[in-house]
Amino acid sequence: MWCQTKHVCLERALESELNVDLPSTQILLMDQLQSLMDAYDASELENTFYSPQDIQKTVSLSIQDEPMSDQSLLKSLATIVSCTPKTSNPSFFNQLFGGKEDVAVLADMMVARMNNSMYTYKVAGPHILIEQEVLSQACSVLGYENGEGVFCPGGSIANLIAMILARNSIDPNSRDQGLSQNGYVAYTSEQGHYSIKKNAGIIGIGRNNVREIAVNESGEMSAEALSEQLEWDLAAGLTPFFLNLTAGTTVLGAFDDVARMSDIANQHKLWVHVDGSYGASVLLSKKYAVLLRDVNLAHSVAWNPHKMMGVPLTSSMLLCKNKGLLANSFSEVSDYLFQEDTDELNPGIKSIQCGRRNDAFKVWALWKQLGNKGFSRRIEKQFYLRDKVVSMINSDPDFELIMEPVSLNVCFRYRDIASDKICSALDKRGLGKVGHGSFNQQHFIRMVIVNPNLALEDLENFLATIKRVARTLKDRGRTE
Ligand SMILES: Cc1ncc(COP(=O)(O)O)c(C=O)c1O
Repeated sequence: MWCQTKHVCLERALESELNVDLPSTQILLMDQLQSLMDAYDASELENTFYSPQDIQKTVSLSIQDEPMSDQSLLKSLATIVSCTPKTSNPSFFNQLFGGKEDVAVLADMMVARMNNSMYTYKVAGPHILIEQEVLSQACSVLGYENGEGVFCPGGSIANLIAMILARNSIDPNSRDQGLSQNGYVAYTSEQGHYSIKKNAGIIGIGRNNVREIAVNESGEMSAEALSEQLEWDLAAGLTPFFLNLTAGTTVLGAFDDVARMSDIANQHKLWVHVDGSYGASVLLSKKYAVLLRDVNLAHSVAWNPHKMMGVPLTSSMLLCKNKGLLANSFSEVSDYLFQEDTDELNPGIKSIQCGRRNDAFKVWALWKQLGNKGFSRRIEKQFYLRDKVVSMINSDPDFELIMEPVSLNVCFRYRDIASDKICSALDKRGLGKVGHGSFNQQHFIRMVIVNPNLALEDLENFLATIKRVARTLKDRGRTE
């Protein structure tokens, strides 16, 4: 829950610290915006559904030739804010993120106010050192002794960077001259994120050259299926080059077995990448780090603090086991930009981007505030709440748990009523947002318990709401 007073104080401190001399209308605007956002955060209980038509009718979105007055603009902003889905709401379970931590939000607001770009020390100053600190902490959590990393705009891009590194590793001239041959093949599981296929299309490997390996009954990649597919591809004269393992699959939250799969991949010299966009954060918990044991065997890891760590979007890291690979794949000579300081202080040479938002500062601020111990407790609270939801579901004969969860995804269904219908009715009636998925011909509700700031009561209420809505759908079905 957003703490209004605390936030306003911090915001004031920030203003005087930066000695911001804002024009008076701008101060007024900032104050009003402040109250607007406080009202947004306080109105967490409702999450009314607005269709695109409702929104078009309520507020004019078209940009005009004539300027708009501050007051009219504020009114439009207020309307837009009130129509915006609330992802920290106690009935929001739709995504692999939800809820947010005050200090991380504040740091992100500071980032917008400071407006630096993370390519050079000259332009970003202490933030380069702060980013280095976060990346180095993350590497040490992974067990990468000689690691390096880069912040990028999301897990899909982190996976893209990993695939480029892998391609350049197997085909060192490809960066300069294009691929030297066809027939490179990448491997991921049927439950892996779609960005792997998309990225194969982007980097010239081809989407059809991604093999989606079968999974076992828990949603983890099958070692037998991977070995078999590799044999087929090798026999066909193809060149396997990249294995994507998922730590926390999007729908089921499954963790692929890094040691077992790496063993197979190493026999054929594949680049092993762990897509921990969602699940790598479990490494911060002493109790749950075991889910991602042996992650240090991978050549690279994607990790999104904006999912399980309560940091606002976006915040995503690509971490590599060995230093120097990022610059090898991404550095360019640019006399206009890289004019001062060492390469170490100019992370632009390691990035796929030129201008780059500062997404490390909010992670650093929260990590400083909580410390490793606090983060461990935060992650464990999420798992504690997940366990509570599981026992609520198991003790209610109207619900059926689809499988024991490994991560924070609880997959279950209400007997007799299709899960997609329930999810849609909840959303359209403004009662909550939760997604649905399928696995092994079973269709289910996927409730992600990622917001540790929820009370048990919120979870009980949401399950009761699902039952109420399911019953009305059932009754309506009877009368139709
Ligand atoms: C396993 C996994 N990898 C990658 C991604 C993509 O991350 P992003 O949305 O930050 O691009 C997701 C998104 O949910 C995911 O679940």
